[in-house]
Amino acid sequence: MAKITAGVGSSHVPLLGVAVDQGKEKDDYFGPIFRGYDWTREWEKAEKPDVVVLVYNDHASYFDMNIVPTFAIGCGERFGICDEGWGPRPVPEVEGHPDLAWHIAQSLILDDFDMTIFNKLDVDHGLTVPLSMMFGQPEKWPCKVIPFAVNVVTYPVPSGNRCWAIGEAIKKAVESFPEDLNVQIWGTGGMSHQLQGPRAGLLNREWDNKFLDMLESDNDDVRHIPHIEYLRETGSEGIEMVMWLIMRGAMGKKVKTLHRHYHIPCSNTAIGHIVLEPA
Ligand SMILES: [Fe+2]
Repeated sequence: MAKITAGVGSSHVPLLGVAVDQGKEKDDYFGPIFRGYDWTREWEKAEKPDVVVLVYNDHASYFDMNIVPTFAIGCGERFGICDEGWGPRPVPEVEGHPDLAWHIAQSLILDDFDMTIFNKLDVDHGLTVPLSMMFGQPEKWPCKVIPFAVNVVTYPVPSGNRCWAIGEAIKKAVESFPEDLNVQIWGTGGMSHQLQGPRAGLLNREWDNKFLDMLESDNDDVRHIPHIEYLRETGSEGIEMVMWLIMRGAMGKKVKTLHRHYHIPCSNTAIGHIVLEPA
């Protein structure tokens, strides 16, 4: 049977994609950020996941205001790379796993989650930057990827509680798929950042680290953080952190922390990264 073996949380700051593409990973500015991913890159080489369910958000790159799905899953064979204004990133196309994706879609819908299904989808930095952070610059991504898109761009966005619950349902879905697959789930986005208005540039090291502590905890208090607290403490774009709760919900009650990294600033955001294993 398929099994979720690990969960990865990571920021998906677009500037990090630029740093990888332009070979700046070791310079004075980016060095301390990327060194926090060295451990994970080695670990991923040993883990060799077959499939990653990659929770991310589109930043009005492929999606637009005509249709705003709350939760969407990519069921296609492959996914192209979005042009975000300066041409698509020079990264490989993303290969999907349609059989597992359709199985997850069916299981979630029968569990009363109303999913949007994308058979055609191009993916933006929200999905490609975490792949670059974890895998570097391969000719071909070393695993299949199921894009799992969440609306955190336009209110109303889903609650942390709803995200946690859909993570639990993803775990159930994956573990009822009758093929031996090593599946990881990644929750991306965040941490504290606000891109506009009088509070632009807001960072909150203390709150971000409290959030990481809560992810490591055996209790599920983190799922009940209200939207207003994310807004107040982490800025308008910090709401992306609810996507990490999909990953955490899929880990089960207890987790073991394998790796953790936090650094500010990165572009005008805080960067956070955690690797968890079901305990
Ligand atoms: Fe984002």
